[in-house]
Amino acid sequence: MELVINPRETGFVRVDFAQLFGNTNPVVLEIGSGKGRFLIATATEQPDVNVIGIEKSLHYHRVIAERVNKRHLTNVRLINHDAFLVLQKMVPDASIAEVHVYFPDPWPRPKEQKRRIIREEVLAEIRRVLVDGGSGIYVTDHQEYFESAAPLIEQVFRAERRVPGPDDPPRTNYEAKYRAEGRPIYEVRFWK
Ligand SMILES: C[S@@+](CC[C@H](N)C(=O)[O-])C[C@H]1O[C@@H](n2cnc3c(N)ncnc32)[C@H](O)[C@@H]1O
Repeated sequence: MELVINPRETGFVRVDFAQLFGNTNPVVLEIGSGKGRFLIATATEQPDVNVIGIEKSLHYHRVIAERVNKRHLTNVRLINHDAFLVLQKMVPDASIAEVHVYFPDPWPRPKEQKRRIIREEVLAEIRRVLVDGGSGIYVTDHQEYFESAAPLIEQVFRAERRVPGPDDPPRTNYEAKYRAEGRPIYEVRFWK
């Protein structure tokens, strides 16, 4: 089993997930997996789910790969590339059950905001790849990003804004860190 899909070798071609995982289990996709906490917990707790982590940073990609290998998780695949290109070129229509985006880089300067992962062209791709009834979660600590991203999500999906409560366990390293610091956390859940 190859844990890593490397589009620099395979080309940016549509991936057949049933062939890739050897089953037709639902596929959960995480964009910007960081050190892989959510991805590893999901793959461990839900062995009947396939998990894909797209992480742009080579350093974090290697950290996740090492952690996944150590746990012998067979239901994970990793892609070290920009998520928009991967979504656009590699992910088939209606092939993803859930999309998770935790604490994406906020790119706060006006000139940089076009790099945000929650932008119209990426949301259109997320909509295309989700199955009917598929869902997504976007979480941030950055109020301004939240206030501009939430309406974009609401234009494309049925959506619900939510503030995680103190009893909700943190899903990622950033969430654990920011909640320990007492920062407010904003969340949008959405459905196709
Ligand atoms: C602030 S960190 C959050 C990491 C993790 N989700 C967490 O909550 O702990 C943002 C992560 O997204 C990755 N990232 C940023 N832009 C990306 C993109 N366009 N495609 C894939 N990953 C991206 C970064 O490399 C970084 O690891």
